[in-house]
Amino acid sequence: MSQPSSITIRRPDDWHVHLRDGPMLAACAVHTARQFARAIIMPNLVPPVTKVAEAAAYRDRIRKAIPADLQFEPLMTCYLTDGADPVELARGKKEGVWVAAKLYPAHATTNSAHGVTSMDRVAKGLEAMEKAGMPLLVHGEVTDPDVDIFDREAVFLDKVLFPLLKRHPGLKIVLEHITTREGVAFVEAHPDRMGGTITPHHLSYNRNAIFKGGIRPHFYCLPIAKREEHRLALRRAATSGNPAFFLGTDTAPHSTDTKECACGCAGIFNAPVAMQVYAQVFAEEGKLDRLEAFASLNGPRFYGLPANEEKVTLRAATLDAPETVEVPGLSPGLAKTITVFRPDTPVGWSF
Ligand code: DOR
Ligand code: ZN
Repeated sequence: MSQPSSITIRRPDDWHVHLRDGPMLAACAVHTARQFARAIIMPNLVPPVTKVAEAAAYRDRIRKAIPADLQFEPLMTCYLTDGADPVELARGKKEGVWVAAKLYPAHATTNSAHGVTSMDRVAKGLEAMEKAGMPLLVHGEVTDPDVDIFDREAVFLDKVLFPLLKRHPGLKIVLEHITTREGVAFVEAHPDRMGGTITPHHLSYNRNAIFKGGIRPHFYCLPIAKREEHRLALRRAATSGNPAFFLGTDTAPHSTDTKECACGCAGIFNAPVAMQVYAQVFAEEGKLDRLEAFASLNGPRFYGLPANEEKVTLRAATLDAPETVEVPGLSPGLAKTITVFRPDTPVGWSF
């Protein structure tokens, strides 16, 4: 089938982004803002963003980090801890600061030490969110070390997410960065309650890539990539046109040295190549006509926001993106970089 040489869509949004703070924020924010009009900002800073005033101040720092010629709106989230304050959640939503709250099971991933140890301990907060119409964004992995790392998402669905849906019937939930066919099926089974975000990297490679020819830290993130059958389920979901599935890059920068070491950090920095990789996947599936729904329409619809009016064009062309991004000032005297995600398979789109 012949492919179009360009595609024009409404400007996309990114519904799952880590922008960090300080020098990392200064280096990374522009890459997200070049591609996306809005982004849901993850709150897993050190210390985490739990208060309305902290989120408002962080939002100001993000806005300052964006070059004046780019239009970009950060959408803030609250990091849920044990005993999350229902009053703070409701107030922040009412004041237009919180768009959603994020559930990290304690110790599930980067900067999740202050995460939730038991769903009982956030029940009051979740009730306040139900009343306020504030979605819950979920890192869907159990943390029990006895559960195999490749099974942690599937076990989470049965053990945590299903009971949570029942206990909080008014709560809308996004299963973030889905990596399994079970995750896809779970979202499909709860169409009026759930959304699911899908990253460019989980669409591009399976778990073999992490170990191809040696251990490759720039393919390591959490949830970890699974078997090929799961990648294929994600590709089917993303390109299906089902409005429950939408774009969330989970771009998560770590400096190159903290990934290329004995205990490398989890996280993939894909912001400079995100739309190019998504376009490649949709083109390979013969579904470029569904890219706009996934990237620009389904997310706003879930969050009850208008779609962007501005149009952007992606062109079939050799990928033109940096291999690394410098982070001035991260470690005084040392030149630090972040390595940009690059799939093993060719990306033939530019943005
Ligand atoms: O790989 C990941 N990196 N997964 C997460 O959930 C967090 C993220 C990060 O903040 O680095
Ligand atoms: Zn994330």
